[in-house]
Amino acid sequence: MARTAAIIAAAGSGERLGSKTPKALVQLAGRTLIEHAFSSLSPLVDEVVIAAPAQYVERVRSLVGESAKVVAGGATRSASIAVALEAVSPDIEFILVHDAARALASTSLAERVIKALAEGEVAVIPALPVVDTVKSINSEGYVTLTPDRTYLRAVQTPQGFTRQLLNRAHQDSARNPDATDDAALVESLGEKVKVIEGEAKALKITTSEDLERATAILGLSRSDEVRSGVGVDAHAFSTDPNRKLHLACLEWAGEVGVDGHSDGDVAAHAICDALFSAAGIGDLGSNFGVDDPRYAGASGAALLREASNRVKNSGFEILNVSVQIVGNRPKLSPRRREAISALSIALGGVEVSVSATTTDGLGLTGEGRGIGATASALIIKRATRDVNVGSNT
Ligand code: CTP
Ligand code: MG
Repeated sequence: MARTAAIIAAAGSGERLGSKTPKALVQLAGRTLIEHAFSSLSPLVDEVVIAAPAQYVERVRSLVGESAKVVAGGATRSASIAVALEAVSPDIEFILVHDAARALASTSLAERVIKALAEGEVAVIPALPVVDTVKSINSEGYVTLTPDRTYLRAVQTPQGFTRQLLNRAHQDSARNPDATDDAALVESLGEKVKVIEGEAKALKITTSEDLERATAILGLSRSDEVRSGVGVDAHAFSTDPNRKLHLACLEWAGEVGVDGHSDGDVAAHAICDALFSAAGIGDLGSNFGVDDPRYAGASGAALLREASNRVKNSGFEILNVSVQIVGNRPKLSPRRREAISALSIALGGVEVSVSATTTDGLGLTGEGRGIGATASALIIKRATRDVNVGSNT
């Protein structure tokens, strides 16, 4: 898999929104726009570089944590991207460029952009058909042209590029400092730009009306059903020294594995149980049957994918999942981000948090005889609501 980075443009002031703080630091449903944008892209990519307003670099860093690189952006969007581009690691091959202002763009949209790059496209942009008839006008306010709407698209981010092409496009960006997206720079090089289906959620938050619309997309209505669930699992370490340890959808070299049906991934199993319990559709045993040969040796990721499908099929969306691993080893902290990313991808881009603890020498895990995990899940069945989304650049 090609190594991929995400650049998030977040250095704008948000003049049209009219807030005192820069737009990326404005709150939407309890989190800033940059946190929303970061958490939907970070599970998918190897590196995130954020262009922040110069006076807010430290503030943004404190919000997103150590794993992202935060640089001071420039005077225009293109200038901010160009600065961020210089901070991208040398081994990165694909780059997603995303606007913090499109805070609700989903992980699955980014995943589809990356997929198109992996299939050989060099520039990929998501877009939606335009519903209004669009006119071109002159400076006196008279119509000069009515383009055929069939061929018009309202363009969104994240946009994906091969690194080489994005570099070339930005070497030339001084000629087009007002470009409002990166694809425009690529087009001026005469390269092919592939359009894929965008999504209503990826609307650009420009005015306070847009912020209200985004809040409505995320927000709860009285008839939404929100449910929580819990799950626990534990397995003893194997007496077979060659058994591999699978935990949180990662393989842990140099650690002894645990006994058990399937791959023994206690974190994945506890999350499956929490999801089933939240949706009220049984538990791990009743869904995957300990005796069912289809699940013998199944990976934690495969079980999570299936559990998440079953929860979705019963009408729920997963809001977040939290898992705590209980045991003396392996040491989790050096691989926490990787674990979050692997679990999140298995669940289709859901927000995941991972923590770990020991039990003061007590019990199966404290005596070092095995590993346990406890998980909780929050899910929602939304009442049907129309989302009326316009677009602007
Ligand atoms: N952006 C940036 N650097 C700039 C200007 C804009 O990184 N010098 C980013 C913004 O933070 C935003 C995206 O580019 O995520 C799209 O820009 P826009 O929606 O226009 O945001 P602002 O420039 O902040 O808003 P306004 O134009 O209303 O001031
Ligand atoms: Mg702007």
